[in-house]
Amino acid sequence: LANGIGTTPPMGWNSWNHFNCLIDEKVIRETADALVSSGLSKLGYTYVNIDDCWAEIARDDKGNLVAKKSTFPSGIKALADYVHSKGLKLGIYSDAGYFTCSKKMPGSLGREEQDAQTFASWGIDYLKYDNCHNDGSKPTKRYPVMTRALMKAGRPIFFSLCEWGDLHPALWGAQVGNSWRTTGDINDSWDSMITKADMNEFYADLARPGGWNDPDMLEVGNGGMTKHEYIVHFSLWAISKAPLLLGCDVRHVTKEIMEIIANDEVIAVNQDPLGVQAKKVRMEGDLEIWAGPLSEYRVAVVLLNRGPVRNAITAYWEDIGIPQHSLAEARDLWEHNTLKTKFVGNLTATVNPHACKLYVLKPIA
Ligand code: DGJ
Repeated sequence: LANGIGTTPPMGWNSWNHFNCLIDEKVIRETADALVSSGLSKLGYTYVNIDDCWAEIARDDKGNLVAKKSTFPSGIKALADYVHSKGLKLGIYSDAGYFTCSKKMPGSLGREEQDAQTFASWGIDYLKYDNCHNDGSKPTKRYPVMTRALMKAGRPIFFSLCEWGDLHPALWGAQVGNSWRTTGDINDSWDSMITKADMNEFYADLARPGGWNDPDMLEVGNGGMTKHEYIVHFSLWAISKAPLLLGCDVRHVTKEIMEIIANDEVIAVNQDPLGVQAKKVRMEGDLEIWAGPLSEYRVAVVLLNRGPVRNAITAYWEDIGIPQHSLAEARDLWEHNTLKTKFVGNLTATVNPHACKLYVLKPIA
């Protein structure tokens, strides 16, 4: 969407994966504090996004959405002011239907302009717009109404289409929003994560600066996968130019998890100005190569072992888009190490089960 935002994939945090409906203003404020004190905000994690369950089930007598008194007593405007005072941005959630998915608050269908104005007046910077309990009409009819309402409201608001694939939002999302879901909901397991990555890859050609494929939010740190599986999760999201929205409790992050989500070299791949989503360029059973171009003639490559046995994986220049006789330098982004050997034609590494290698290759001759 040509609203000037989302020129690189959005980064931040969202309440849903860890907290579901159990949110309140204290959690949101403490999350904002933690993003700053941990240094994560400096790395780019700036959106603090409230998901479902923040509002009263009833609108006020003017038909405005109201924050839930028991959990958000200070109101959303005060929260936005707080989050902004920390140099962060506040995101909120609504639905292109009559109720949100939880059924615990109203949706915005038929109230788009009013709600967009409310969000803008509160200082909202990001809207995630879900697809539950709608009137059965096509998302292509309902979502653009909110796009126009946001434009009219006059505040730059990142518009995240949470249409989970009913009508292939990747095919029409670029005119409507800044990102669109390509999958149903992720859960904190290897199978779920890898399936979402696959489904999202299918639409790779449709991503571009200002409009990103969204394979759902990160589960890194929620406890259901091993360290190396979370490294795969973060690597695939990074090279897929997916939104990097943390879904764990950032107030309590272990050192191990912090080393994953705070890997500045991997983040730089995600935020590369070229904005091209990586693709699977070779698959041999459980072994896969994913690759995509970066700025300055560089290429990001993931060697992925989806299977149960340790195996060697080779990336060939012809598959990943490096001129055949080119000599390339390889930077291992998880080891933070530039390999001493220079490579011509291909690069091989041994990769553990449910693990990956992530390299940036830079042609030097
Ligand atoms: C469905 C979405 O896909 C989730 O990310 C989350 O927003 C829930 N709805 C909230 O009810």
